[in-house]
Amino acid sequence: MATAGSVLRGAWGHRAWTAVDERLGLSGLAYPVPKHANRIGYILGGITFFGMLIRFGTGIWLAQFYHPVPEAARQSIAYIIGDAPLGDVIRGVHYWTANVVMVTVLLHLARVYWTGAYKRPREANWLIGLGLLATTLGLLFTGTVLKWDQEGYEALGHNLEMANLLGVFGFWFSADFAVEFPILGRLYMAHVVILPTAGTLLLIGHFLLVKRHGISALPADADRAVDGGPAPATGGSSFAAHLVRMAGFGLILLGAALAISLVLSAPLGPRPVPGIEETKPPWMFLPLYPLEDWFGLAALLWAPVAGFAALALVPFGDRSPYRSPRRRPIWIALGMLVVSLLGALLVYAMLTVPQAHIRDAM
Ligand code: HEM
Repeated sequence: MATAGSVLRGAWGHRAWTAVDERLGLSGLAYPVPKHANRIGYILGGITFFGMLIRFGTGIWLAQFYHPVPEAARQSIAYIIGDAPLGDVIRGVHYWTANVVMVTVLLHLARVYWTGAYKRPREANWLIGLGLLATTLGLLFTGTVLKWDQEGYEALGHNLEMANLLGVFGFWFSADFAVEFPILGRLYMAHVVILPTAGTLLLIGHFLLVKRHGISALPADADRAVDGGPAPATGGSSFAAHLVRMAGFGLILLGAALAISLVLSAPLGPRPVPGIEETKPPWMFLPLYPLEDWFGLAALLWAPVAGFAALALVPFGDRSPYRSPRRRPIWIALGMLVVSLLGALLVYAMLTVPQAHIRDAM
């Protein structure tokens, strides 16, 4: 039976909610979404988004102590690890979340590909997604250079090589572009301003289009409708419930990154020694490493360009209206071939000894 207290609390709670909702319109978030939107495969983009928020928050903390000049950069990271309040743990959460986000963004892309969700009318959102993938990789690359250890220094060497390869178009990547300002400072600016701003703008477009089109129907349901069956159901759950689920996974991600950080610090290698090349790149760039061995530095530029161009063409090549994997055997086989190739290159790169590629340039 309700007591006078609980009635009062209920009434107060209701009034408080109404007051907040009247001003912020939160109940507008309870619009219907299909039930399958809460499956893990359809939450991967949301987990990636929460990972971005975690990186943003922890990055602000790290920026209080990081010193982006070559003479002081690595030492300031050593300070973060050893002396800054919560420095080691926050840096760990930033680093491990960035790695997990790379995995979730790839799985999100794989889900969209597997379910043919890039098809009409979502072609533009697929392209925006590719922009998000590029900014994610850009953040990982520039973050690696910022450490200014041997690995970061060699990554910068590759950056300078790309500037050479791109000729006049590579001016921004070249140290000569602004001789008075160390290139480390410009890569830092890219890491904390340019790429996050670009990522945020792309994300706004991505989310607006997800809202505009709604989440894609399950492939089997969509195909039934193509064959003249009933239109797929559009309800079953609400966006508010979806958001709560996304946030739950976001918290699990935060907890996992925190737990890893407590036992495993984010790596920081030795002071860089110019003229030597002895590290391998972080795992997400590792499939490029054998290509660099076999075909030279140009492969580092042209392989990603070709990869992104091929991905960009997918929605325009796969023209059939069907979305189920079994009705798109060629595209699924192509996708699996690419994933197997990347996996094989990754394993091969892990097993080989480091090679020198840019010794002359450093
Ligand atoms: C920072 C990276 C990204 C974030 C935060 C993000 C976020 C999201 C979110 C929250 C959704 C709603 C459904 C879901 O979670 O599956 C979504 C849908 C979508 N995303 Fe992404 N995404 C990112 C990268 C990508 C990439 C790399 C691609 C592909 C190249 C892509 C293509 C799409 C498409 C086509 C949809 C609509 C899918 C559907 O309706 O089933 N996204 N994204």
